[in-house]
Amino acid sequence: MPRAFSVDASSIEHAAQVLRAGGLVGFPTETVYGLGADASNDEALKKIYTAKGRPRNHPLIVHLEDFAAVAQWAKNVPGAAHALARRYWPGPLTLILERADGVSDLLTGGQDTIALRVPSHPVARALLAAFGGGIAAPSANRYGRVSATTADHVRSEFGSAVDLVLDGGACEVGIESTIVDLSGPQPALLRPGSIGAAELEAALGIVLAGAGAASPRVPGSIAKHYSPQTPLMLMEADLVVELAASMTRQGHKVAVLARSARQPLLEGMTWVAASSEPAAYAHDLYANLRALDAAGCGAILVEEPPLEPAWAAIHDRLTRAAAGSPTPDAT
Ligand code: TXA
Ligand code: MG
Repeated sequence: MPRAFSVDASSIEHAAQVLRAGGLVGFPTETVYGLGADASNDEALKKIYTAKGRPRNHPLIVHLEDFAAVAQWAKNVPGAAHALARRYWPGPLTLILERADGVSDLLTGGQDTIALRVPSHPVARALLAAFGGGIAAPSANRYGRVSATTADHVRSEFGSAVDLVLDGGACEVGIESTIVDLSGPQPALLRPGSIGAAELEAALGIVLAGAGAASPRVPGSIAKHYSPQTPLMLMEADLVVELAASMTRQGHKVAVLARSARQPLLEGMTWVAASSEPAAYAHDLYANLRALDAAGCGAILVEEPPLEPAWAAIHDRLTRAAAGSPTPDAT
């Protein structure tokens, strides 16, 4: 169920004016918060890259009010795009399509494709309707860091670099949209999300290709991403308990994200028992990582999620969050 509409019409109109004036607006979507700018204003788009600290060649997603708006941003739109949009838009799905002539390199990172999505969050929809154009919005976090799923997260990431943040409550899905590339000869899954590969394959009636070497560049697929500042390590449940206890006994502060409440009762340990149900786990994931990061510990130990399709997107985010941190054996 979409959450209650908690932003009034005058705040929406004000936010639309900020966008028209070339400013940055933090706004909720059903996945994560976006850092939005007028997609047709290059000066506004440059502000996104500066605020995020994101390299200019990393492309953005353009958020649209409805499927009819796709024609302004993409060309040679294949039947598969119509099929997926009919089934999943508005919703947590991003489509990569051939870009229309004249679309800014600041949106596409200089590639000949563009990422488009019609979000379902009522505040995002109201903002798109009031603004009347495409809103470019990456996830509202500093480059490589944990995504934002509340308005407070956005404010703490950007401070005065964002002109306005619309507060639509905690995001329902909690992790970024599924990205499907329809610009090549065969549809490819570029980023797993709450809409799973099997569902997409059923909707398309074909098997999806994984992101191959020839796929367009996707910064979300670089190794380190979605990362807390504290080193994060993924390991199986028994090792979490063992390592957390031994590190705590040695006087280290340890943070744990586990699916079980089997908490060894030791002082100096911060233990978050996450849901054992994937949708609820995803809903809380980034808020949990932020809380554990803020606990001032030397390490965050995360219990590995199950190797099941329903956990694929969570697995993806946690693996990237852990990239570059020491492995359990090395501690
Ligand atoms: O759920 C979401 O998708 C959120 C909300 C705000 O809509 N947005 C989001 O944006 O996650 P961002 O910028 O953090 O991630 C977008 C991903 C990046 O990995 C980017 O490289 C990829 O989409 N992307 C954008 N344009 C692309 C293109 N033309 N080809 C391939 N990947 C593209
Ligand atoms: Mg992001």
